[in-house]
Amino acid sequence: MSAFAIKGGQRLVGEVDVAGSKNTALAILSSVVLVDGLTVLHNVPDVSDTRTKAKLIERFGAKVEWSEGTLAIDATHLEMAETDEEMVRSIRTSFYLLGPLLARIGRLELPAPGGCRIGARPVDYHIKGLNSLGATIELQNGVYRAKTDALVGADMLLEKPSAGATQHLMATATLARGCTVIRNAAMEPEIVALADFLKSCGARIEGAGTSVITVQGVSALQPSEFRVEADRIQAGTYLVAGAITAGDVRVNGLRPEHQAAVISKLRDAGAEVSEGHDWVRVQAPDRLKALTVRTMPHPGFPTDMQQPMAALLTLAEGTSVIEETIYESRIGHVQELNRMGANIRLEGGSCAIITGVDSLSGASVEASDLRAGAALVLAGLAAQGETLVKNIHWIDRGYQKLEQTLTDLGGVIKRVPTEEQEVPV
Ligand code: EPZ
Repeated sequence: MSAFAIKGGQRLVGEVDVAGSKNTALAILSSVVLVDGLTVLHNVPDVSDTRTKAKLIERFGAKVEWSEGTLAIDATHLEMAETDEEMVRSIRTSFYLLGPLLARIGRLELPAPGGCRIGARPVDYHIKGLNSLGATIELQNGVYRAKTDALVGADMLLEKPSAGATQHLMATATLARGCTVIRNAAMEPEIVALADFLKSCGARIEGAGTSVITVQGVSALQPSEFRVEADRIQAGTYLVAGAITAGDVRVNGLRPEHQAAVISKLRDAGAEVSEGHDWVRVQAPDRLKALTVRTMPHPGFPTDMQQPMAALLTLAEGTSVIEETIYESRIGHVQELNRMGANIRLEGGSCAIITGVDSLSGASVEASDLRAGAALVLAGLAAQGETLVKNIHWIDRGYQKLEQTLTDLGGVIKRVPTEEQEVPV
């Protein structure tokens, strides 16, 4: 197992080119099995989640070739397959393969996805939507057994604007006969990107990025070549890295409108944030001001930036409040930040009251999930002394070359082996 050893106190200065979006890549990798032929995806981030997803679609007969950040996926021949439960449970979006595979092969079995450290993460909206499209799905002994004679379009309403359910149902509906309407759809940029990919394959989708998405089913999706856009959460994480070290960091290759909520909060905290058509720059003072942050579905403040923002606010002047409204327990970073001298009090399990302190002190801390791990790295960059962030396999799931990028910005961070056994995912 390995850890990040970080020596805090360096101002981060410089420019970052952000890797492709993990969450867009995962959404497309679930949908690529809809395509009867070859798909070429560019700018796919090489992180453990995309590697695992590619292995999973190979289990169902797809041929996948990686070369640098380009994936060539031939989904012409698909077949029913036994899948490795541990692999499916290791990434939740494996479940999003259910509908697309059903559209191609008519029946399959898939182990149920696990919950994770941030919440129960049920899939009831997915099941309800797939049932309305004509799929029969039963859960027996932790395995979903699904079948359909033919998928038929339906008019469906999501209880909450779930990003995953919107992606899953929109993709599946592209091969359902007739018209599907998804109401109360999520509006995350990853959904727009997925719709753009599917449309490049000949799908007929309108309204992606709004709360009502309409899909006219087609008989088949055609081969396509597509580029994954920059990862907005990685971009936000690097902006916060600049802010927490009173630095000057410019992030390139992204769409500023995807960062609007984060930019607005950084400005409210007193950082100077400038933007161009494909870049955002943060210049931060020595001390920022306390904030109130409430996570919301897009275009509200993204839940994936909640934990990095909490790290930033541990050093702000005054008392901040962060309310997590998307997940019931996205708090794995709190006690570890407090080990570094932060003063965070939890109220009701999803509200953090953060009293700013003058400094954090380096400590040995443990990542418990992807974005909690990122928050601990950010805190280590600003802390006095050395911080050891353990269980960094969680971070490797979603950040490509994190230590190299931070080193290029002037941070002192390196990957070191530790003797502890790998924590099971
Ligand atoms: C996606 O997860 C992202 N993951 C998450 O990013 C992100 O936090 C989340 O969207 C919200 O933006 C990927 O894209 C791989 P949801 P997803 O369905 O699709 C409830 C990261 O750090 N819900 O929008 O699972 C659910 O419990 C990850 O990169 C149901 O109740 O999120 C949660 O409270 C973490 N029933 C809320 O909706 C359902 O059937 C939002 O979940 C589905 C969801």
